[in-house]
Amino acid sequence: MSDAQTIMTQPLIQPSALNREPVSPILKWAGGKTRLMPELLARLPESWDAYYEPFVGGGALFFRMGPDQARISDLNYELVNVYTVTRDRVNALIAALKGLEYNRDTYYGMRALDPETLDPVARAARMIYLNRTCFNGLYRVNRRGQFNVPMGRYRDPVICQTDRLLKASVRLQQTDILHAGYADAVADATEGDFVYFDPPYQPLTSTANFTSYTAGAFDEDDQAVLAKTFTELGERGVRCMLSNSDTPLIRDLYSEHHIDRVMAPRAISRKATGRAAVAEVIVRNYEP
Ligand SMILES: C[S@@+](CC[C@H](N)C(=O)[O-])C[C@H]1O[C@@H](n2cnc3c(N)ncnc32)[C@H](O)[C@@H]1O
Repeated sequence: MSDAQTIMTQPLIQPSALNREPVSPILKWAGGKTRLMPELLARLPESWDAYYEPFVGGGALFFRMGPDQARISDLNYELVNVYTVTRDRVNALIAALKGLEYNRDTYYGMRALDPETLDPVARAARMIYLNRTCFNGLYRVNRRGQFNVPMGRYRDPVICQTDRLLKASVRLQQTDILHAGYADAVADATEGDFVYFDPPYQPLTSTANFTSYTAGAFDEDDQAVLAKTFTELGERGVRCMLSNSDTPLIRDLYSEHHIDRVMAPRAISRKATGRAAVAEVIVRNYEP
């Protein structure tokens, strides 16, 4: 077990795969990794074959890296559909977004639509619209899977980020996009591949349980099964990096791997006081 260290800044290693222009994420996402990015970039392996990001969310690391060969996946179907449509039908998506205005009627009208009745482009436009205009960019659904975040207060939110969408579309061209649980998504990873896991974090307190990205939560048993997958992938020669909260459970589950403690400001939290920097860990199964 390696000693935990608090490292605020590290010199950046720039593997050759990082020579691409960074692309900004197209969705705001709880747990978005923009703030932790320098710490993640500093810990990438020197090189890799295929890149996997099986809890892709907003995909901050994927868009920053621009890997040649990649598979991104998530259990949230709305999110996966946004990436698929951005890759395959970006002009239609831009046209659909340009027709949408920021006002109460449009917001609650869009929110009330059943996404399953929409074609993929309209469905992706709805998701992006709600993400740009809802309170804090949250994604939350009720037990029946209906999006229930209230409208946010913005002065003039940009609903169609044309340039960003076009760049993201280019970056997604060579990418395999799957609606899958993380275990299925990485099942065929082989020696030389690299997987970055960014699961729903283990809550630091019993009230800070923001894990409802999808209708199901991610509990301690799920964290334990994920840790097993992480270790098994390493045994197959797959390099893995994972971020999570710095808790006794997470340290215990990954005790045979390299654990670095890092401080990251939180973007989405219920309480204003929860926005302060919190300790997280970055775990790797390869030599630092
Ligand atoms: C912490 S977020 C990822 C944040 C992302 N790295 C970013 O930069 O925005 C976790 C993601 O895992 C997804 N998720 C939850 N359980 C999952 C599972 N069992 N398999 C795959 N994805 C899952 C959620 O839908 C959510 O998008």
